[in-house]
Amino acid sequence: MARRRQLYEGKAKILFEGPEPGTLVQYFKDDATAGNGAKKGVITGKGVLNNRISEYLMMRLAEIGIPTHFVRRLNMREQLIREVEIIPLEVVIRNVAAGSIATRLGIEEGTRLPRSILEYYLKNDALNDPMVSEEHITAFGWAGTADLDDMVALSLRINDFLCGLFLGVGITLVDFKLEFGRLWENDEMRIILADEISPDNCRLWDSRTNEKMDKDRFRRDLGKVEEAYQEVAKRLGILPEAGVRDLKGPEAVQ
Ligand code: TMP
Repeated sequence: MARRRQLYEGKAKILFEGPEPGTLVQYFKDDATAGNGAKKGVITGKGVLNNRISEYLMMRLAEIGIPTHFVRRLNMREQLIREVEIIPLEVVIRNVAAGSIATRLGIEEGTRLPRSILEYYLKNDALNDPMVSEEHITAFGWAGTADLDDMVALSLRINDFLCGLFLGVGITLVDFKLEFGRLWENDEMRIILADEISPDNCRLWDSRTNEKMDKDRFRRDLGKVEEAYQEVAKRLGILPEAGVRDLKGPEAVQ
């Protein structure tokens, strides 16, 4: 079989040309980075779990009317997605103080925020993804006011829904990062959810013990990283059928 054309390789995923125009194949790697690439490692089975977790969450979001790029899962590590023009922003939604907001504003980690707080960061590795304001975004043309209105409305709905979904399985959604893209259909443009939603880009704490079940275990050398990702999948009821053994199976594409 001919190798598919690779279009982009990121830190945790690879994008290949899709089978039809307007589609891409998103491949999930086990590679993990933190601190904008300063720390590198491998979390065995992460790609398989994130593929499943992101599939599950995007499908549940689609059921409540959130437009997403997800089409279908293809195999253990790949999913078919719609090709979009990625908006060069990371939208972070926070419910509980942790990570950079705790450091930046001197708030004790674990403090519930007075309300959900939304922040924008510019996707630019060379600049270390700086935080930006709506003023910067519209002045420099990274997105327009109407785009931002759509992104904020979608992000807040996603947050409400995911907070409830995770709480139902004993997990607090502390914060998470979203990316959006522009989808063009017959001269009409829509903003849709892109990228992935997984323990790589969410902070997920056990709601009883506050134990971390996300990439902070890797970032902060807390150990049991693989186990934490597996536990999230298990609680969501989507651990691959053969259990952990399934995670080390053959990879369909390289
Ligand atoms: P932060 O506290 O480091 O700003 O991160 C907030 C949330 O966003 C956290 O769940 C991790 C996620 N995130 C990413 O997914 N990618 C990034 O590049 C950064 C900085 C954060």
